[in-house]
Amino acid sequence: MANFKVNGEDKALDIEPDMPLLWALRDELGMTGTKFGCGIASCGACTVHVNGVAVRSCVTPVSAVEGQEITTIEGLASAAAGTAQPVATFDPANSALTAVQQAWIDHQVPQCGYCQSGMIMAVSSMLAQNPNPSDADIDSSITNVCRCGSYPRIKRAIRSLATA
Ligand code: FES
Ligand code: FES
Repeated sequence: MANFKVNGEDKALDIEPDMPLLWALRDELGMTGTKFGCGIASCGACTVHVNGVAVRSCVTPVSAVEGQEITTIEGLASAAAGTAQPVATFDPANSALTAVQQAWIDHQVPQCGYCQSGMIMAVSSMLAQNPNPSDADIDSSITNVCRCGSYPRIKRAIRSLATA
């Protein structure tokens, strides 16, 4: 069994302890906002938060997050507001966005969008630790890959938050 909390909801799954968290989220819990890209911790598409810290879930076995608090893109806004909602009742249309999510809209960051869940999770974690990052800080912290090349808009969105 694997036991952890996802977006405020307790989960007990009958799965192997070495199953990557990514597959527990996607295949066992049906939460497909977290994406599979490379499977080797290189692209960041699978980024989630474990106790608020960005983690690449494709290489994180569920045994490593036993009893921990997982936040996915589906629960980011309610987690930030301190009002974690159960996934079953989460309604994106009627939930406030985080400042990062709003900045992504304001600056029209996504193109195909595939990498953007992971980007937003990584950037949210970075800004929680470093609210006013330099370009060098961004480059060293955000190593996620965007095949559409949205990096300039990602930086603009981050800068708008840093100077807000
Ligand atoms: S899918 Fe996890 S880092 Fe690429
Ligand atoms: S927006 Fe397409 S991969 Fe990043």
